[in-house]
Amino acid sequence: MKTTKDTTTAAAHGGDVRLSGISKTYGSFTAVHPLDLTVPEGSFFALLGASGCGKTTTLRMIAGLEEPSAGTVHLGDQDVTALPPYKRPVNTVFQSYALFPHLDIFENVAFGLRRRGIKSVKKQVDEMLDLVQLGEQARKKPHQLSGGQQQRVAVARALINHPKVLLLDEPLGALDLKLRRQMQLELKRIQTEVGITFVHVTHDQEEAMTMADQVAVMNAGRVEQLGSPADLYENPRTTFVANFLGSSNFIEAEIDSRGGDGLVLKAGGGKLVLPEARNSASTTTGGKVLVGVRPEKISVTHADEAGEIPEGRNRITGRIADSSFIGVSTQYVVDSPVCPEFEVYAQNIARDPRLVPGAEVVLHWNPAHTFGLDATQDIDAGTEEEAAV
Ligand SMILES: Nc1ncnc2c1ncn2[C@@H]1O[C@H](COP(=O)(O)OP(=O)(O)O)[C@@H](O)[C@H]1O
Ligand SMILES: [Mg+2]
Repeated sequence: MKTTKDTTTAAAHGGDVRLSGISKTYGSFTAVHPLDLTVPEGSFFALLGASGCGKTTTLRMIAGLEEPSAGTVHLGDQDVTALPPYKRPVNTVFQSYALFPHLDIFENVAFGLRRRGIKSVKKQVDEMLDLVQLGEQARKKPHQLSGGQQQRVAVARALINHPKVLLLDEPLGALDLKLRRQMQLELKRIQTEVGITFVHVTHDQEEAMTMADQVAVMNAGRVEQLGSPADLYENPRTTFVANFLGSSNFIEAEIDSRGGDGLVLKAGGGKLVLPEARNSASTTTGGKVLVGVRPEKISVTHADEAGEIPEGRNRITGRIADSSFIGVSTQYVVDSPVCPEFEVYAQNIARDPRLVPGAEVVLHWNPAHTFGLDATQDIDAGTEEEAAV
């Protein structure tokens, strides 16, 4: 008796996804390089990356729709690598909702239950429709609903069979921006309510950051970095991640010495301080480091007031090349001897009217907001400029 119960309990869990050395090649082309990834049970996990980086292929290998060239897929303790899709406790929601146009919403959601020969479906379907807040629309046909509502039907239809893992492949890609924002919150609420593992594929960094507990940033068939949104944003380990999530400024600098507050770096004629814990480059003296800092961490002071900048801040000089007022903030582009086109986002609190193009300025920031990256990388990796090439 006890054994049976334990088995049931084990089966009720098993919502973590473990990929071990999984890869996919098409002929001589490698779409996914050997990949190790664990998605914790009950988490909202995002696979984020530009088009073509291998997100869908990875998702399809979890679903069983694509056979891996090597490696294994575990759901909980179960090795599902050899199981066909319908035997895996997984369901997928695609960008195209693929609802049955001739069936009403209720019957679309009931479909999975009826196919399994379940007769009394009303209670479960009603619960699912309530979950996605479409109880009132049960008797409408898909074409009578908005895109966002149709996508919620698709989610309800996928959840009704109680999968342990829900896979979502760019499910909001067809929606306009405003609806997409609403649906992001809605999907997050649904995931919190049902508590199962969601693996969400998107190329939209803001979407991944808003929704996910953990984000795996993919680049050319590899996971470049994995972490919480805040961790990826504050501690990017590659220029690709630093540029793909938000924007970053980079200064090429040389290691001068080790000081009490961190590494002391030479850039142009000046010195910058980088906390050692935030540096992922080699620390050989004389070695090169890319010093990164996010645009919103930087303050702009007119050169005439430079004496008022507190001690201990990293500072560089420059001239304002461009300024755009966008309401909550002003975005400056500053040409500096150590970095062309330094980006600065200044909150509009008290605007100095002298900060206009042509003005000589000092840019300064808390050294703790500086991160250091290996200088052999392409500074533009992951930027839109790079994507356009
Ligand atoms: N069946 C296939 N045959 C050959 N190449 C494929 C096939 N499926 C995907 N690819 C290639 O693998 C790469 C990754 O594709 P995909 O996983 O769909 O990327 P993403 O979802 O991140 O946009 C792309 O370069 C794509 O062209
Ligand atoms: Mg895709």
